[in-house]
Amino acid sequence: MDHFDYRDRRLHAEGVALADIAERVGTPFYCYSTATMERHYQVFAGSFADLAVLVCFAVKANSNIAVLATLARLGAGADVVSGGEIKRALAAGVPASRIVFSGIGKTADEMTAALAAGIAQINVESENELDKLSEIAAAREARIPIAVRVNPDVDAHTHDKIATGRAVDKFGLDPARARALYARAAAMPGIEVQGLAVHIGSQITDLEPFREAYGCLRELTLELRGEGFEVRSLDLGGGLGIPYGMGTPPSPAEYGKMVVSVLGDLGCHLTLEPGRVIVGNAGVLVTRVIYVKEVASRGFVVVDAAMNDLMRPVLYDAYHDIVPIIEPPPDAERREMDVVGPVCETGDTFATLRPLPAAGPGDLLAVRSAGAYGAVMSSLYNARSLVPEVLVKGDSFAVVRQRITVDDMLARESLPDWID
Ligand code: LLP
Repeated sequence: MDHFDYRDRRLHAEGVALADIAERVGTPFYCYSTATMERHYQVFAGSFADLAVLVCFAVKANSNIAVLATLARLGAGADVVSGGEIKRALAAGVPASRIVFSGIGKTADEMTAALAAGIAQINVESENELDKLSEIAAAREARIPIAVRVNPDVDAHTHDKIATGRAVDKFGLDPARARALYARAAAMPGIEVQGLAVHIGSQITDLEPFREAYGCLRELTLELRGEGFEVRSLDLGGGLGIPYGMGTPPSPAEYGKMVVSVLGDLGCHLTLEPGRVIVGNAGVLVTRVIYVKEVASRGFVVVDAAMNDLMRPVLYDAYHDIVPIIEPPPDAERREMDVVGPVCETGDTFATLRPLPAAGPGDLLAVRSAGAYGAVMSSLYNARSLVPEVLVKGDSFAVVRQRITVDDMLARESLPDWID
């Protein structure tokens, strides 16, 4: 459920008409709904019966500090994958004790920053990384809480580029090596090994791969305990999918029930790292039609947003619903059109042969389900701007990131002294 609805035939985010925001900030822009994020967070966090869980929002999905602060005020922690994301989480008021650090390529500087901030856990993915961490801990005479990330060799049946738990993927260690690393870590003075972690991919629309991966964690936990090691916590990653206008992925309640049934009796503290399921459907990208162009074989709606603003269609062939900002009459004729941006690549296409009501120059459209992996993945390609981000709450809205323009970039570029 989200809070983007037509009121008096105008698409609103909660109590604010998107057309009014367009008037104020120009197009394209991202718009997020506070009520939708809050609802998604609360439903998700409430899905694990009475188990002790910490929900760490995956900052990579949407790292705007207003979004992070909205969730932090509900008790959310943060799952981060870089020093930059640690900074953002802290700037948004996420307590360090609720930050976990994932990723296969943490640099020594990033790990040092994590240690200095006093974050809750670093998820270790390789022997090299553990050695580096131990060195950093020794130099500071500190103890670093870690989990060992397991690669359970499970196919999450999602897009190939966002599956992360197969043996061929770069993430984690297979169960046997994870077990050996756990034992090694437990003997290191600067390392406090708390448990295991797993993450098998994103936009997962079936519970079975999760069940299999969590079953693998369960087995490994019991084996390690059998060998005398303590396993206090399990980090279950993120990955639960959302409906992008079609299909119905499992609900957080169904997901939570499965988690409880597979892991509920182990007495472990659980960490969850959802991103998309919290913010995906809490955001839209609003864009204006520049031209409509018809050729013999196709009709093109050319809009002012492009692949640099929302990469998901060109990267993953992702489907995003596209709706007009003025509600069309129910019997409006629809024609199959391609919705394309101005960038000079054929891949700059948001939708192909999409049945749409008639649109003309100046009309506004909303690309839906753009709250996750939208603004965070945007670029300045074709010397375009990074578009504004707007947060709505009730009848109010605020620009929470201003447009970053080519002038901002030019101010940071310079000519070398051999060019005059
Ligand atoms: N935890 C870890 C360790 C992750 O790698 C990810 C996402 C998450 C949590 C959050 O997953 P979520 O709940 O959002 O599915 N750019 C792609 C998605 C990449 C996801 C990578 N990892 C897209 O636009 O579909």
